[in-house]
Amino acid sequence: MPVTVSQEQLQSQFTYIDAVAALIRGKQLRAYTHTFGCQQNEADTERIRGMLHEMGYTMTDKPEDADFILFNTCAVREHAEDRAFGNIGALSHLKKQRPDVVIALCGCMAQQEKNVEKIKKSYPQVSLLFGTHALWRFPSLLYRALTEKKRVFDIGGEDDIAEGLPVLRAQGPKAWLSIMYGCNNFCTYCIVPYVRGRERSRRPEEIEKELRELVAAGYKEITLLGQNVNSYGKDLGLDIDFADLLRRLNAVPGDFWLRFMTSHPKDASPRLFDAMAECDKVAKQLHLPFQSGSDEILRRMNRRYTAEEYRALIADARAKMPDITLSSDIIVGFPGENEEDFQQTLRLVKDVRFDLLFTFLYSPRTGTPAASYEDNATSQEKQDRFERLLKAQDEIVAERQAAYQGKTLRLLVDGTAKGPEYPFTARTEGNLLVCVRGENIQIGQFIEAKIEKTSLRCLFAQKL
Ligand code: SAH
Ligand code: SF4
Ligand code: F3S
Repeated sequence: MPVTVSQEQLQSQFTYIDAVAALIRGKQLRAYTHTFGCQQNEADTERIRGMLHEMGYTMTDKPEDADFILFNTCAVREHAEDRAFGNIGALSHLKKQRPDVVIALCGCMAQQEKNVEKIKKSYPQVSLLFGTHALWRFPSLLYRALTEKKRVFDIGGEDDIAEGLPVLRAQGPKAWLSIMYGCNNFCTYCIVPYVRGRERSRRPEEIEKELRELVAAGYKEITLLGQNVNSYGKDLGLDIDFADLLRRLNAVPGDFWLRFMTSHPKDASPRLFDAMAECDKVAKQLHLPFQSGSDEILRRMNRRYTAEEYRALIADARAKMPDITLSSDIIVGFPGENEEDFQQTLRLVKDVRFDLLFTFLYSPRTGTPAASYEDNATSQEKQDRFERLLKAQDEIVAERQAAYQGKTLRLLVDGTAKGPEYPFTARTEGNLLVCVRGENIQIGQFIEAKIEKTSLRCLFAQKL
């Protein structure tokens, strides 16, 4: 059973929220947050913003105006780490001009010893650093950073679940809903299990309660989050799995779409696709990363499925939901990948014909097994494979997008667009981006619209 942070522990943090509020009362302080990384990190930032809001901070989107600056960081690839360090580096002059500014760093990078050492040594402008496990202790940590004249570091903590933290969500009709935390899979390239801890599932009644609140607050698209949602419930000791959870949440009254991510092919099952097909609120959309089309590479990635098994899953999903949109993640240039391995990836991409692909160049992560695997391909070869993959996928997407021409679809309007001709953005049930025009369009509304033209990245529609 996952451990839930006790009421007493949480209560003491609420006391610190009040203490910070008293400390800054009348000062009209502003807070700026910036999130790197995945949706889980975005959801965490929303909790921190919720706590800051309760303390009396006003949010700003300009770091130079802020009294409190937070970077919630990602460690999944070197590029993400470099960006975080670059951003913090750029703030050293601000800290010199306004020594009272509190600069904080949290998230996945803060769970790694090497980064903590680097911050301690080379980034004195960071006065508060805490890891993913310490998120719920943020009020006491900020209180210390504001009152003590020394830097505060908290990277310890257990794989606990904290329920009932305040949350300040981004504007718009979409909301994240974490159903579980952590990962047990230890894919050999991946840092996530090391920085997020072991899998732990929230209790179903807590999830349902939060969903009901979101629906009552008017949210129209709710995405269930977990690193591997298909192993939901395994740690709970209750008779519930992810398919059961979907059915339970689908029964919550209201007009909304439910999405979820991420699924792992080793745990996705016909049972899941049955539930998706039967649940009218569950969007017919699936993000199912396969990473590589080569069985040998998959084995060395510790993914625990074969390309053939993956194809069978896709075939089953499509048989049950013919219009389903499919997306995937792929890593190019994993150590030892040769041209033939890459060709198998390319073949899988061409056979499945995904609507959307997220392609990454392999980035070695210190502490993961793959970081010490022998790697023979040159960066030029890897780059060349990467570009061939993008080109193949662009051709597929162009065809798939063109097939929407003239169709009438239900859309959720979710924002404003840049161009004047189609002033709003919307999403299809399959999560494809649409720019829309028409009379009386409101953000947060479901509308019927007809696709007038298509491009590689966007569909263009007229509201009916
Ligand atoms: N839990 C999710 C997502 C994990 S991170 C899942 O298992 O699908 C998102 C993606 O980043 C992964 O799917 C993978 O494609 C990519 N990724 C992870 N580690 C990486 C690394 N070291 N180098 C390059 N890409 C990586
Ligand atoms: Fe990383 Fe694999 Fe876990 Fe996804 S399933 S977070 S890729 S270890
Ligand atoms: Fe990055 Fe952490 Fe998410 S490493 S991808 S922010 S879980």
